[in-house]
Amino acid sequence: MDRGLDTRRARRYTISMNSVQNPFSREHAWKLFTKYNSDPFHIQHALTVEAVMRWFACDQGYEAEADFWANAGLLHDIDFGQFPEQHCVKAEELLREGGANDALIHAVCSHGWGLCTEIKPEHPMEKILYAVDELTGLIWASAIIRPSKSVQDMEVKSVKKKFKTPAFAAGCSREVITKGAAELGWELDALIEKTLQAMRVCEAEVNAAINTPQNAAP
Ligand SMILES: [Fe+2]
Repeated sequence: MDRGLDTRRARRYTISMNSVQNPFSREHAWKLFTKYNSDPFHIQHALTVEAVMRWFACDQGYEAEADFWANAGLLHDIDFGQFPEQHCVKAEELLREGGANDALIHAVCSHGWGLCTEIKPEHPMEKILYAVDELTGLIWASAIIRPSKSVQDMEVKSVKKKFKTPAFAAGCSREVITKGAAELGWELDALIEKTLQAMRVCEAEVNAAINTPQNAAP
């Protein structure tokens, strides 16, 4: 990996993050995402992270950027389905072709920090995306084995129990979640509680979107 290139890109994108603008509509973001993704699991994950990011934008006082945060959530794994070996690297090409600006590209690529890129999350949105990506997966995996199959009656202690069981949803990196909370300066419990709140709020919308033919915008 050319780390020098990544460092130069990070510097360039960090500068452009000073003005966060939403490069395109949700409809365009959805078309771009589904151009490269059709797997129901990936779609479910993308819709969940999209809705969770929108919730966090409002929770953190970034209401004006909520559409941008949501687009970053929807598109964050754009390259994973077809280019898993180039995850968070191929994304730049796909997004740029699709009309994304540097801020969106940096946000998407930085969620693979330490795993597949050296681009570090800098903006609060990027830090939250990095922290909740794996965590939403862990919470979802915990929810579907409950009698309710829902996060509505799930508590932080249930998630913590699964968090401490490495064999459960082993693909959800506990290290990334822990690092994500630390980068935000939040206690792990606070990150889990907020993410649970976000998932409770958006659960019905995401389920409805998954069950509609065109995966309508939540
Ligand atoms: Fe993801």
